[in-house]
Amino acid sequence: MNSKLIAPSILAADFANLQKDIEIVNASEADWFHIDIMDGMFVPNISFGMPVLKAITKHTKKYVDTHLMIVDPDRYIKTFADLGTNNLTVHYEACTHLHRTIQAIKSEEMQAGVALNPHTNVNVLEDTINDIDLVCVMSVNPGFGGQSFIENTYNKVRQLKELILKKGASTKIEIDGGVTNKNAKQLITQGADVLVAGSFVFQSENPIKTISELRKLIN
Ligand code: DX5
Ligand code: ZN
Repeated sequence: MNSKLIAPSILAADFANLQKDIEIVNASEADWFHIDIMDGMFVPNISFGMPVLKAITKHTKKYVDTHLMIVDPDRYIKTFADLGTNNLTVHYEACTHLHRTIQAIKSEEMQAGVALNPHTNVNVLEDTINDIDLVCVMSVNPGFGGQSFIENTYNKVRQLKELILKKGASTKIEIDGGVTNKNAKQLITQGADVLVAGSFVFQSENPIKTISELRKLIN
């Protein structure tokens, strides 16, 4: 397995021809498949729900990384496990009892991820970092693809990496939003392990080539 991972986000795919875009990711050097679930409450947008996720997981050959942008995610942990999710990420801002939520995700045999909005300091995870498999640092405000990368993300990644090392945790750092060939290398240098890329991949002329070039850049 590659040590630095690429996770194309399906949000930027052609929803009228999802199978084609899933097969593109399958045939590419991408490691993970990033799936954004939005409820129109936690974020001002609705993406898609369980039937679509079921159709996606039926075709994908990659590790399924599901990012829940929904309120009260505890309601659906088992559902997402049954739908074939490998890593389930919930938002710190959406969980009153984050520690319990993390344990519930793990008890369904999934990896547990926690996403932080751009305004949330990484230190809020000081007491849970050893239980978390992945921290998803939002480098845009969640809800939409195609937004510009927030530069302060570099500082957050650095601080988060320090926290992980200080605590002796093995947590991966994922960056989500506005990732391109312009910021990928620097993010990895600061400590990122997984790069989510939506529009940069799917709006390029040749997504397989774009993924392969991104891979060369970061490994
Ligand atoms: C934003 C989503 C992202 C999004 C990234 O709320 O969580 O995963 O799809 O898209 P790009 O790469 O276009 O910013
Ligand atoms: Zn996402």
